[in-house]
Amino acid sequence: MPNDFLSFFLSWMSSPRRVGAIAPSGAALADLITREISTTTGPILELGPGTGAFTYKLLKRGVRPQDLTLIEYGSDFMKLLQMRFPGSRVLWMDAGRLATEHLYDGAPVGAVVSGLPLLNMSRRKVISILSGAFSYVRPGGAFYQFTYGMSCPVPRPVLDRLGLRAKLVDRALLNVPPAAVYRLTRRPQMKLIAGSLAPEPSAQVALEPTHPARDDSAAR
Ligand SMILES: C[S@@+](CC[C@H](N)C(=O)[O-])C[C@H]1O[C@@H](n2cnc3c(N)ncnc32)[C@H](O)[C@@H]1O
Repeated sequence: MPNDFLSFFLSWMSSPRRVGAIAPSGAALADLITREISTTTGPILELGPGTGAFTYKLLKRGVRPQDLTLIEYGSDFMKLLQMRFPGSRVLWMDAGRLATEHLYDGAPVGAVVSGLPLLNMSRRKVISILSGAFSYVRPGGAFYQFTYGMSCPVPRPVLDRLGLRAKLVDRALLNVPPAAVYRLTRRPQMKLIAGSLAPEPSAQVALEPTHPARDDSAAR
C-alpha cells in the first residue's frame, strides 16, 4: 500500500467536509472493517474508497477484482482508483444517488464497505445512501461503516425508518485517530404463526422510496 498521506491531506484541504479525514485509514482499521469478508462474500460495493486503503485489504482477502464496485465522488481519488484497480468497476458518482442508478441486476451484493463521512452529512442524505445501498444487498448481506465518533453514526430513528439494526464489530484503537466499525443489517421481518410472532430471517425489508438528496456534503 503506497504512502498516500500527502495526496490525501491535499484533498482534505480542498474539500474538508467531503473527505472527512486528514489521512487515509491505517492497517488496523482496514483489517477490522474487512474482517468478516472473504472469497465467498460475492460482489462488494465500496463507498468512499479514497486512495484505496480498504480496497487493497479486500483484494488481499481474496475478493476478485471484478467483484468490486468502487463509488467515489472526489475526481482526484476517482482517477487514482482507476489507475490502481483497473480490474474493478470505479464509478465517479455521489453515493446519495445509488438508488437512481442501475448498478446491478437484482440484489447480489454480499457486503457494502463504507468510508463515507456520514457524520458530515444531512439525515436525508444518509437515508438516501443507506436505502440505495441496501436495494442492492442480498438477504443476509451487511453494510460496514466506520466512525471516529463514540456511537453508531447512523441515528436510531434512521435505523428504525429503514428497518435496520446496527452492531459494533469492534474498535480499531491503533488507528489514528481511533475508530469503530459498525455492521448494519436488515431486521428480521416478523410474521404471524399460529397467533405468535416469529422472525422470518430471509425476508427482505421493503425500503421506502428514496429521494436523491441535494449534495450538501460535497460542495465542488
Ligand atoms: C474519510 S475518507 C475515507 C477514505 C478511505 N475509505 C479511507 O478509509 O482511507 C471519505 C471518502 O468518501 C468520499 N466521499 C464523500 N462523500 C461522498 C459521496 N457522497 N459519494 C461518494 N464518495 C464520497 C470522499 O471523497 C473520501 O474519499
